[in-house]
Amino acid sequence: MTMQRVSSLSEFEEMKRLAMERRKLQKRYIATCCGTGCTSAGSRVVVSAFNEIFSKLGLEFEVKTTGCHGFCEQGPIVIVRPEGVFYRMVKPEDVKRIVTKTIMENKIVEELLYVDPLTGKKIVHEAEIPFYKNQGRILLSCNSDLNPTDILDYISIGGYSSLAKVLSGLTPEDVIREIKKSGLRGRGGAGFRTGEKWEIARKQKEELKFIICNADEGDPGAYMDRSVLEGNPHLVIEGMLIGAYAIGASMGYVYVRNEYPLAVKNLTEAIRQAHEYGFLGKNILGSDFNFVIKINRGGGAFVCGEETALMQSVEGRPGDPRPRPPYPAEKGLWEYPTVINNVETWANVPKIIEKGADWFASYGTDGSKGTKIFSLVGKVKNTGLVEVPMGMSIGDLVYKVGGGPKNGNEIKAVQIGGPSGGCIPSELFNLPIDFESLTEAGAMMGSGGLIVMDERTCMVDVARYFLKFLKEESCGKCTPCREGIERMHEILTNITEGKGEREDIQLLEELASVVKDSSLCGLGKTSANPVLTTLRYFRNEYEAHIKNKKCPALVCKELVSYYIDPDKCVGCLLCLKNCPSEAILGENKKIHVILQDKCTKCGTCLEVCPPKVSAVLKVSGEKIVTPEKPIPVQEWKKRNQLERR
Ligand SMILES: Cc1cc2nc3c(=O)[nH]c(=O)nc-3n(C[C@H](O)[C@H](O)[C@H](O)COP(=O)(O)O)c2cc1C
Repeated sequence: MTMQRVSSLSEFEEMKRLAMERRKLQKRYIATCCGTGCTSAGSRVVVSAFNEIFSKLGLEFEVKTTGCHGFCEQGPIVIVRPEGVFYRMVKPEDVKRIVTKTIMENKIVEELLYVDPLTGKKIVHEAEIPFYKNQGRILLSCNSDLNPTDILDYISIGGYSSLAKVLSGLTPEDVIREIKKSGLRGRGGAGFRTGEKWEIARKQKEELKFIICNADEGDPGAYMDRSVLEGNPHLVIEGMLIGAYAIGASMGYVYVRNEYPLAVKNLTEAIRQAHEYGFLGKNILGSDFNFVIKINRGGGAFVCGEETALMQSVEGRPGDPRPRPPYPAEKGLWEYPTVINNVETWANVPKIIEKGADWFASYGTDGSKGTKIFSLVGKVKNTGLVEVPMGMSIGDLVYKVGGGPKNGNEIKAVQIGGPSGGCIPSELFNLPIDFESLTEAGAMMGSGGLIVMDERTCMVDVARYFLKFLKEESCGKCTPCREGIERMHEILTNITEGKGEREDIQLLEELASVVKDSSLCGLGKTSANPVLTTLRYFRNEYEAHIKNKKCPALVCKELVSYYIDPDKCVGCLLCLKNCPSEAILGENKKIHVILQDKCTKCGTCLEVCPPKVSAVLKVSGEKIVTPEKPIPVQEWKKRNQLERR
């Protein structure tokens, strides 16, 4: 198809018809995930191998490079469409078999199929894999069948049709009404009602208004926004266009994290194509609506994701937050009304306009509509990017989508909502995932980080870890946040090192309440969540650390010790030879002894001791009596027998 600028709605309809026809002609093709996760696992080499073999065979067969499919740990992922045959961990040397067996003979390459860890059964089709089957993907589903650098591919699945619908007769007020009716709430953290935000900006009298897409995504381990931008950038652009039309903005920024090169690349290309085809620029689709988008690469600080700090950064100043009100919708960039929304929020907009507010509102709960994308990580069998309807219980997300515990250990909690989210214990796994329920439980939706923790996780250490992150990311502008987080972190560190004191718990609670109530921005206001939720649900662990100097999960280094069980040691020298600090005494066939004052608690002895022997003990809060020096194994056995008599 030749490229052309679309300058009227009828021209757009013609282009859409041609794009859809082109898609129909692609009867059979291969979709290879080339999102960041699969690319790092080698998917680009797999694509080259496919292209090479097809050209050698003289076959005209499309190998579509798509965005992230979500099941990143199984990458590189290859799907044969339209059947949806799902191959995982594909290597270049597997390509020939896929082509000769599946493409040419319609047979399955068994070794490349996904094996369900629960049933042990091989699964052929993507749609039948529990990880996918139990989700509700309305945004991410497009990712696995779309070339993000091909605007026509997007148009062929209905892309830019929502914009055309808006420009063909909806007033800005109609659009705002529809978004309000849908119940869409911001996906960046606070869950503010999107339609209401737009309405405030619409009502402002200024001629100049701005739109911002917040793609800063500073939460450690989170990559929801990255995957949407990488895999479907036109969806975000279309959402921004509709928002700009609704509030009367003519310029938009995407503030994207600097560490997202592929997202920036695909977005840059998408913006270029959108200009070329007439979806961006002047007189869009023949209307009098003008809109352009610029990309602004993030400053690298977590706080730059906070809306007021982000705007300072776009203006070229240090990314420090400022007090609100005035809110950005009234006074934002350079004091002009500005609507700032998260990537996922923008991505929902074209879907709402296309399918209607009622359709969108049919997903979710009374107060939280639609779906939410989470990056599911931690101690579950299936990790990756998941999109679930709001209202799904935490338990269903962990067990049905995540597949339950990874190593047979019991799941203890989830940490939800990013670094300043909270920890929810397994007893509350019936809790629905919606804004209100999570806040009531002391956590928050945040932007979608979800870490599953099992019995080997120390909850005091978890709180310490997140407070360390927040301490380092506090901009330091306001005292409660700067000093308060530092102090809370110090107390938590003391507790994990066995230096905790009785009054520490009360002190933590008091500090948490001050920091929460008096910090300038959301970073400080929410920073106490990890402390308060772990205190609320896992107080016994704090008490064990403080009173008994014991870490029940055996995590806190200063509170654990390693011993060699004399009844089990066979004197094989393995631990002795591997100990990096020469803290083990022993000889062949003599029971080994760990010198407690030399032991650095690195755990190497535990790792190298053969599973059949399992002589190394890791304990906390107790002292094991062992021989003071190595003695022959046989002698120890005899001594024991005598004692027993
Ligand atoms: C410390 C901090 C970091 C934040 N980081 C992000 C971020 O990376 N992405 C995001 O969309 N919102 C982030 N937010 C929330 C934004 O301030 C703002 O509420 C959001 O961009 C509004 O969009 P929404 O209504 O679509 O959620 C952050 C807030 C705080 C306090």
